Amino acid sequence: MRIRKADAADLVEIQTLLRANGLPVDDVTGLLIEGFLVAEDTDGSIVGSAGLEPLGSSVLLRSLAVASEIRGTGVARELVARLEENARSLGRLEVWLLTSTAERFFEVVGYERISRGEAPGNVRLCRQFAVLCPSTAACMRKRLLPNSFPYVNERPQSR
Ligand SMILES: CC(C)(COP(=O)(O)OP(=O)(O)OC[C@H]1O[C@@H](n2cnc3c(N)ncnc32)[C@H](O)[C@@H]1OP(=O)(O)O)[C@@H](O)C(=O)NCCC(=O)NCCS
Repeated sequence: MRIRKADAADLVEIQTLLRANGLPVDDVTGLLIEGFLVAEDTDGSIVGSAGLEPLGSSVLLRSLAVASEIRGTGVARELVARLEENARSLGRLEVWLLTSTAERFFEVVGYERISRGEAPGNVRLCRQFAVLCPSTAACMRKRLLPNSFPYVNERPQSR
């Protein structure tokens, strides 16, 4: 199993995985999946997906699904960690998401529940929030630390 960036040829397989897991596919296009990662099995089939959708200075984490046969093996944790790295390298340090089914998983990987009203406007207005996810879905956020803290290990010089 390896995790790699999605490409246009993966679109149908990603949509099939999302549908099988009850996740929205209406807006999952070739353009959107440029921000996706996939987990690929040794036979080349796609067994996991997750993506970032840029929303102004924030980012939406979405379309996280792992095939039932390989759940519990850390694939989702790895996909989320890799996407967070990507968000960091884009300089976006707030990751938002909506979930009806995986709130506990996201808590385990460091997300906290926030009321929808507290999400920034560009997040509230995105299609997932406005149209695709039920209003009962939990809204969650993680604040990422920047890539480097140049001074974090430095003590003030004593004179
Ligand atoms: C949620 C989902 C992606 C988790 O995938 P996974 O690969 O099994 O998760 P991992 O193996 O990486 O789990 C990482 C950690 O979260 C925990 N975890 C995973 N799923 C969990 C759940 N449903 N409830 C509570 N904890 C969970 C694991 O125990 C593990 O903890 P540990 O490392 O301390 O042992 C998978 O169950 C799934 O595809 N569900 C259907 C689609 C879905 O609901 N997607 C979310 C849409 S927003």
